[in-house]
Amino acid sequence: MDKVLIVANLKSYQNEIEAKNWLESFKKIKELNLDSSKKEVIICPSFTLLFSFFSYFSSNNINVQLGAQDVSPFDEGAYTGEVNAKQIKDFAKYVLVGHSERRINFSETEDMLAKKVAMVLKYGLNPIFLVQGQDNFIPEQVKIIAYEPVSAIGTGNPDTPENADAVAGIIKVKTNNAQLLYGGSVKSGNVKSFTAKTNIDGVLVGGASLDAEELLKIIQNA
Ligand code: PGA
Repeated sequence: MDKVLIVANLKSYQNEIEAKNWLESFKKIKELNLDSSKKEVIICPSFTLLFSFFSYFSSNNINVQLGAQDVSPFDEGAYTGEVNAKQIKDFAKYVLVGHSERRINFSETEDMLAKKVAMVLKYGLNPIFLVQGQDNFIPEQVKIIAYEPVSAIGTGNPDTPENADAVAGIIKVKTNNAQLLYGGSVKSGNVKSFTAKTNIDGVLVGGASLDAEELLKIIQNA
């Protein structure tokens, strides 16, 4: 695929002030003059910051997309504390579903992940489905998948580009050519070794994206 997707997962970091500072640095993305048909950038902040990011990007004419890091498996209704796909749709086009941090810390099951994907699709959003290996269950209509081995997440020990490419290739065949991203300890220094591979269409960046300057380098080098 010709287009490279760079997804930044800001995880459960940043309050409003920290987000403002991050955005001020990230604004320099405009100087990169990205061709959106070649590189697409998707930023996934916490729910509480989606509105700020959305406003900042629109008022500064910054052409990047927004994603949510999670979604309720339920539609709108009496589900105290949940944020549903209809609400997310006001700000974001993408939703991460199935991150290993959610599977592990919040016991998310395959059944729950399938419900989340169904809700995301019901409201016309795009799920980015995360798997930890080639044998993971993948709901049928998913078109963007991120392969993130647990041992590579937040550890500074990325998978080898060769292995990531092989796994991405297997998943691509199983999913009728979904877009495949690699995630896990991606930085500006190693991003190209992944995006240069045939079966890898982009990257999902966690920790490194908290430094806006580093994220800009990743985007540039991808
Ligand atoms: P990492 O995280 O880049 O910090 O390894 C990746 C992720 O959690 O999606």
